[in-house]
Amino acid sequence: MTAAATARFSPRVFSGIQPSGGLTLGNYLGALKRFVETQNAGIESVYCIVDMHAITVWQDPAKLRHATRELAAGFIAAGIDPERSILFNQSQVSAHVELGWIFTCVARLGWMNRMTQFKDKAGKNAEAASLGLYAYPALMAADILAYHATHVPVGEDQKQHVELTRDIAAKFNHDYGVEFFPIAEPVIEGAATRVMSLRDGTKKMSKSDPSDQSRINLTDSADDIAQKIRRAKTDAEPLPEIPQALEGRPEARNLVNIYAALAGVSPEQVLADFAGQGFAAFKPRLAELAVSVLAPISAEMGRLMADPAEIDRILGRGAERAEAIARPILERTYEIVGMVRSRRA
Ligand code: AMP
Ligand code: TRP
Repeated sequence: MTAAATARFSPRVFSGIQPSGGLTLGNYLGALKRFVETQNAGIESVYCIVDMHAITVWQDPAKLRHATRELAAGFIAAGIDPERSILFNQSQVSAHVELGWIFTCVARLGWMNRMTQFKDKAGKNAEAASLGLYAYPALMAADILAYHATHVPVGEDQKQHVELTRDIAAKFNHDYGVEFFPIAEPVIEGAATRVMSLRDGTKKMSKSDPSDQSRINLTDSADDIAQKIRRAKTDAEPLPEIPQALEGRPEARNLVNIYAALAGVSPEQVLADFAGQGFAAFKPRLAELAVSVLAPISAEMGRLMADPAEIDRILGRGAERAEAIARPILERTYEIVGMVRSRRA
């Protein structure tokens, strides 16, 4: 059904990352690295720095501006070519919020009430959360569908939101009797779809974790990276021969998965090389590998950040190209919904 549902749409990839702090190894392995692979496979790709999503929780304006530019630098340093792919920040293309409102009227309260990320982020005091935090998945659906995107590479934590996007597209198509929006597929692949905290193998590595020791930031120095890996929580057992034997050892499994994703090999391969060895032997090798992959990215980010005007120019140009795709799709949506559109352009 899904292949048929997207068959008349040419393949287009869309994904987004929030500029709500620095980039982590989780963002790199779960998202950026895979975006670069998609781009390099020649698939038309749209990558969005979702600043409108970021303000669903409080953002200091100066920090938001900095984080937006730093994230753009991270995309480019990781290998996104702003000429081949489209890279921009969400607030520069108003089609996102316009379509987001329409989808807010398509989505049902019952659907939103099931969103686990809202429950996690709102915490115990949901009454004090912003209305935007609650409505956010409808805006995410608009991000994707404003481009008629067919594929959405994300980490495991975003699967539920992409499923909601599919429900919104299907309900819109059904209610208005059209086949206008594609039923987009989440693409969740690789050894690192869920990179876990270095302090607790049951929690995802996150830029919002209060402990900096829990994550590797793309801007960390080589010494910081090595030190964080050395201090990462593990157990006293040696590494087993097969991944199945890592069951019940979340910290050990996490480090093996990180190694595999950084090296571009399978967890099986990592264990074939390290079975029988303890973490005293494994951690220095992992640290060396992490530094060799991340140091060049971090250096390139620093170089790009020295010229913020150039980053802004790239984002502006990306926004113009994004607008050229999204605006006609939005105009057609307004027509389908029955809005009178009589203003001259
Ligand atoms: P966020 O930082 O929450 O805006 O997430 C941006 C992208 O990175 C999304 O595709 C997430 O699924 C992905 N991501 C974030 N944290 C992790 C993690 N710990 N492991 C794998 N992917 C992640
Ligand atoms: N919600 C995503 C996150 O928190 C970010 C995001 C916003 C996104 N819009 C998107 C991801 C569209 C993929 C597609 O990580």
